[in-house]
Amino acid sequence: MTAIASPKNLWLGRWGFVLAATGSSVGLGNIWKFPYMTGEYGGGAFVLVYLLCIAAIGVPVMMAEIALGRRGRGSPIDAIRRVTRESGRSRWWSGLGWMAMLCGFMILSFYVVVAGWAVSYLWKSVTGGLAAHSVEGMAAIFSANNANPWNLGFWSSLVTLATMAIVGLGVQAGIERSVRWMMPGLVVMLVVMIVYALFSGSFGAGVHFLFAFDPGKLTGQAVLAAMGHAFFTLSLASGAILTYGAYLPADQSIGRTTLMVAICDTLVALMAGLAIFPVIFANGMDPASGPGLIFMSLPLAFQQMPLGGAVETIFFLMLTVAALTSAISMIEATVAWLNESHGLSRVRAAWGVGILLWVVSTLAMLSFNVGADWKLAGRHFFDWLDFLTSRFLMPLGGLGTALLAGFVLRGESLKEELGLPSAVHALWRFAIRYVCPLAIVMVFLDALGALGA
Ligand code: PFF
Ligand code: NA
Repeated sequence: MTAIASPKNLWLGRWGFVLAATGSSVGLGNIWKFPYMTGEYGGGAFVLVYLLCIAAIGVPVMMAEIALGRRGRGSPIDAIRRVTRESGRSRWWSGLGWMAMLCGFMILSFYVVVAGWAVSYLWKSVTGGLAAHSVEGMAAIFSANNANPWNLGFWSSLVTLATMAIVGLGVQAGIERSVRWMMPGLVVMLVVMIVYALFSGSFGAGVHFLFAFDPGKLTGQAVLAAMGHAFFTLSLASGAILTYGAYLPADQSIGRTTLMVAICDTLVALMAGLAIFPVIFANGMDPASGPGLIFMSLPLAFQQMPLGGAVETIFFLMLTVAALTSAISMIEATVAWLNESHGLSRVRAAWGVGILLWVVSTLAMLSFNVGADWKLAGRHFFDWLDFLTSRFLMPLGGLGTALLAGFVLRGESLKEELGLPSAVHALWRFAIRYVCPLAIVMVFLDALGALGA
């Protein structure tokens, strides 16, 4: 096979892959989406299903993606084409790679808007722009920030630009170099947040909310949402992990790195919950306030607390860093594909994707002001991007990946790539062939109401 990545496209450092993949996983999904979804779906029951989905579906699928990437040494489309050719199977499976790239691009199109909120709140926090003293006051600040398309567009464009710049610099000089300092910084900030919550929040109430199991809250929709979020939070079925896997040196263990990434991601989500809900409850606020949770309730809570201003700044800086290390992973697949298969330089590829991203994300940004009324079936464009990716494209992509890895490819090919002890391999194979496909199909059918009440 000619499918060998050039040495310049392998992670340089021992921790290069783990840092980059953890950077991809840990993001707005953990700190923004997980807390507000947990709030909306009522706490512990949602958290439990989410944890089950991570362990039973997320981990096996992530291992499959990394193995596919490393075996095929390329962007999702090219890598899948190569591994299917190697097994003598239809190249049409590379359609999965197309879907993943589309999915990553769609996610990023709304992701940069939320990241723009984060950066603008970082700015406000430093310049004293979050000094409201009531729920209404904070809501007014949030609305005002959204209402002016030039303002909101400025911040989301800034994120788009930073993402393009880093990815344009290359895998090592751009992505790896930036995550090498951003990820440790993120951990330090998160620890500060937790210690603060431990001392000044209603820690017990937060813990109870996150972990108390109430089966009455487990609707089909909640389970589908938890499963979709498990894919989202681990950056699966979006091309990101597969492409990062293509740069993984041959001597590193896929099983071990996957576990590290999945555990870190889960810990950060739970820690974010433990940092946020105690503060929410200490100030008597509503955990079910939706996507605005960390932008309205949280800053208000900080206003009322000692040292709150400084911790607030740390929080939004952390959010910005987490968002950026995820955003870069979402365009890497497409940039790598344009670079490998179409001979575009990385800089040009990054600009090309970036300009398209800028257009689509601007449309998503307009959902909060000019285009607030442009709704289709009750959702505006921003919501559609989120809904379609989390509820359809990612579960379907995960299903496709599981079928490809479990049934289509020759067993030997991925077995060699994964290099697991045989008992662990058997467990993985069982999960990828039966648990993942059946769980995904069942959750789908249930959410569609096909399995009855
Ligand atoms: N995992 C990221 C988060 O939790 O914020 C989101 C994400 C990144 C999704 C990369 C998809 C992706 F390809
Ligand atoms: Na995540």
